[in-house]
Amino acid sequence: MSIPLEDNVSDIIGKAQRGLGISDSQLAERSGVSAEKIRKLRNGEIEDDAVERAAPVLKLDAAALRTLAAGSWGPEALSEIEGLAQFNTTYHDITVNAYLVWDPVTCEAVAFDTGADCGAMLERVKMEKLKVKLILLTHAHPDHVADLPRLKATGAPVYISELEPEEGAAAIAEGKRFRIGSLEIEARLTSGHSPGGMTYVVTGLSRPIAIVGDSLFAGSMGGGNVSYKDALRNNREKILTLPEDTIVCPGHGPLTTVGKEKRDNPFFAGSLMVDG
Ligand SMILES: [Fe+2]
Repeated sequence: MSIPLEDNVSDIIGKAQRGLGISDSQLAERSGVSAEKIRKLRNGEIEDDAVERAAPVLKLDAAALRTLAAGSWGPEALSEIEGLAQFNTTYHDITVNAYLVWDPVTCEAVAFDTGADCGAMLERVKMEKLKVKLILLTHAHPDHVADLPRLKATGAPVYISELEPEEGAAAIAEGKRFRIGSLEIEARLTSGHSPGGMTYVVTGLSRPIAIVGDSLFAGSMGGGNVSYKDALRNNREKILTLPEDTIVCPGHGPLTTVGKEKRDNPFFAGSLMVDG
């Protein structure tokens, strides 16, 4: 079962405007689109060429926005990967993902974030007879670490970026590597949404996997709360340079792939990958 996309056109335009510091009236002025049409665009209503004129001002890809607005932006169909499971839980009014990755031979597992409630994850651990060896946190926002005390009861050590301390978690820097069974994990700093957002690149399963937290979403990205510029650059340089078949596991919304996001994510599609 696939979960819905995290962001719609209106969320995406809002993130770009906030990130670049462009108000509605500035957007109207710079794109030559009337204030009324900008209002419609902000509501996700795409008509005539307003999106083609506004998108370049926002450094977004117009074609990708159109596809999203038409409801025909679908994440790539992915078959089950042995050794990867996503858990989607509800935290107040948002839904959040946590992940479990394991070596199917040794049954050693790594938990990535806790979500609102790690109950389903612990059920899966039991069902597959796994041993949780490591808990890696993508960032410290409460929806991602809400159930840490319960997950910690597995006895596994917990790590998070040194730039984003969390009680009970040891600090790691970019480049830190872990080895669990046949899995190799490399931490990459993808800050911008949060000060120490980490992406964990996992190899050793049938395809490479990137657990990206809120750095990148299927068809969107996390808000650039700390630095929009860093968020864009880190996504471009540290996630979208991975092999195209890498499965991207975001903190919200469905799974996707590096190839799909390079082609169809409105923040990165087409020339936006190289423009900076
Ligand atoms: Fe977050």
